[in-house]
Amino acid sequence: MTFQAPKGTFDWLPPRSERALAVREAMSAPARLAGYGYIETPTFEDTALFARGVGESTDIVSKEMYTFEDKGGRSITLRPEGTAPVVRAVLQHGLHNGRLPVKLWYSGNNFRYERAQKGRYRHFSQVGVEALGAEDPALDAEVILLAVDGYAALGLTGVRLLLNTLGCKECRPAYRAALQGFLRGLDLDDATRQRAELNPLRVLDDKRPEVQAQLAGAPLVTDHLCGACKAYHEEVRALLTAAGVSHTDDPRLVRGLDYYTRTTFEFVHGGLGSQSAVGGGGRYDGLSEMIGGPALPGVGWAIGVDRTVLAMEAEGLFGEEEPPGPVQVYGVPLGEDARRRLFLLLTELRRAGVAADMAFGGRGLKGALKGADRSGASYAVILGERDLAEGSAQVKDLASGEQIAVPLAEIVTTLKERLTT
Ligand code: HAM
Repeated sequence: MTFQAPKGTFDWLPPRSERALAVREAMSAPARLAGYGYIETPTFEDTALFARGVGESTDIVSKEMYTFEDKGGRSITLRPEGTAPVVRAVLQHGLHNGRLPVKLWYSGNNFRYERAQKGRYRHFSQVGVEALGAEDPALDAEVILLAVDGYAALGLTGVRLLLNTLGCKECRPAYRAALQGFLRGLDLDDATRQRAELNPLRVLDDKRPEVQAQLAGAPLVTDHLCGACKAYHEEVRALLTAAGVSHTDDPRLVRGLDYYTRTTFEFVHGGLGSQSAVGGGGRYDGLSEMIGGPALPGVGWAIGVDRTVLAMEAEGLFGEEEPPGPVQVYGVPLGEDARRRLFLLLTELRRAGVAADMAFGGRGLKGALKGADRSGASYAVILGERDLAEGSAQVKDLASGEQIAVPLAEIVTTLKERLTT
């Protein structure tokens, strides 16, 4: 019997896996330039951290968590998202007692038991940033810009920024009540009615056409903001506009996690079918208190690595060609003594910074040269018993076919020179 990767998961294989690495690199580079430090939290946490932080009534907590009891009787959950764990770590280590804001970025796997489809997986990867300890519209604008610059560095042109505000603990209750009043008057099924009582904002996100049709006249959060939230949001928008970031106001944008206050946003892309969000985030000023900490405002985002690669592929950013092979030089040994010598030569080349591989498994000249061609290398170093006796090797330019004998002692310098010109 052979095994398959579990439903809703897939393997990143070379050469396509290079694309995932490129996304992680490009999306984290702007954050590093802005003073964000790298944080790594465990892949699993106490279940209660997510239940309280993300919210009992969210789909993530009520339906999608991978939760189990460990052998010590603890309820453990595989991380469905990275924000609650980062806030937990900040509080645990007292990072908020130092210089503020605490700026962190992360990259890692997440687990959600979702209905699997293209762009929606049960195991997926995010890069994220979180900035804690400051309530400042410039910080909201900064984090948004970090993502905008990351997407731009990847060459993506089809990413749109949807922007909203969800108000604060002063103005949200009145909006919530107004929305609830409106929802009670609609023709909704029992489950949706129940959701309207628990978490009415989530109903706005219901994708079913029969629900959407009834929501046309729903009260909008933007009409219920307090003066402070209105001013805050205007400042975020003004800073983004000044920085040349175009955005679409979307007063119906609701995020799938309960911790958001004020600024919320999503990055969407048209090339992904129904899973259009390539990233999302916002401000979460109450999250620390929700998980038992002091008041500690925060703002951040996470981008989906898998979906960002799909968006880049939809834009044709990788072209028809697969990325080139990872090695520059390929060794072809003919005979046992030659193999031992070439093995050492390859080690020398790698230590000198040249990417090198060789034919393993005692293949003949023809098979080994085929391996050289497939490797994508620019040069093959062919070493036979006679070359060895003469203290030299054949260096073959795999593009032109030109082949010259080079003394063994000069191979590294010769190849380094040729590869850099
Ligand atoms: P989220 O919107 O749940 O936010 O996820 C962020 C991104 O992760 C999504 O936009 C999407 O690209 C990707 N993603 C989510 N679920 C899946 C899935 N099942 N398969 C593939 N990709 C997926 C958060 O996770 C928040 N922690 C973001 C945040 C950080 N807010 C403040 N700070």
